[in-house]
Amino acid sequence: MDVREAVASRYSCRAFLPKPVPEATVRDIVERAARAPSGGNLQAWRVYAIAGARLEALKARLAPRMGELPKGEGGEYQIFPTDLKEPYRSRRFAVGERLYRAIGIAREDRPGRYHQYAKNFQFFGAPVGLFFAIDRTMLPAQWADLGGFVQTVMVLARSYGLHTCPQEAWITWQRTIREFLALPDELMLFCGMALGYADSEVPINSWRSVREPLDSFATFQGF
Ligand SMILES: Cc1cc2nc3c(=O)[nH]c(=O)nc-3n(C[C@H](O)[C@H](O)[C@H](O)COP(=O)(O)O)c2cc1C
Repeated sequence: MDVREAVASRYSCRAFLPKPVPEATVRDIVERAARAPSGGNLQAWRVYAIAGARLEALKARLAPRMGELPKGEGGEYQIFPTDLKEPYRSRRFAVGERLYRAIGIAREDRPGRYHQYAKNFQFFGAPVGLFFAIDRTMLPAQWADLGGFVQTVMVLARSYGLHTCPQEAWITWQRTIREFLALPDELMLFCGMALGYADSEVPINSWRSVREPLDSFATFQGF
């Protein structure tokens, strides 16, 4: 698959087929993704991949606790700034609207929205779950490197016909995940990721998020 096609066809997939992904494929994707650049070649990314019985065990551990703590245990970092400013606030709102409209859930249907949100913690039915972590002494520059690594995983997944959904939602259960994965104290969880074959027949995967026009975010000089 051409790299342009891989980038263009990636989207946040929120329903997967139960078809398994071989361990060799996941290992290959993660190994190749480590060709991503990092300042000073620090390679400050850590990956935990789970599948099969391990993945089912994590889902089973969380399912009953979702009822007790609908918002989770609390993350170690704040995902969005408090009072998210414009135009970011509107973009966030718009993508949420689009997602819930695709599956026929009205804005005021809070239980319906929560039901969809809770699917994050089932990896949206994906057969593979990835977790990305970073040493807690690292700074924004290294977090940016980690983002590049995560994107490289998602693009490489496309070359295998696989789809992904990066998931910050998992940080709300970081304590449980830390215990489950035996994540060392020095590591901080950045996000999870669902990986597998898309169920392309379902409405949740039928829409695409929009992007701002090129000249609204990029300036070109001297050409
Ligand atoms: C680091 C990161 C974390 C994300 N966390 C979640 C998440 O927890 N759940 C979810 O459904 N989507 C999540 N998303 C997906 C974004 O909502 C999505 O990337 C954005 O709306 C653009 O849509 P697209 O990925 O389909 O192009 C995340 C994306 C990124 C990059």
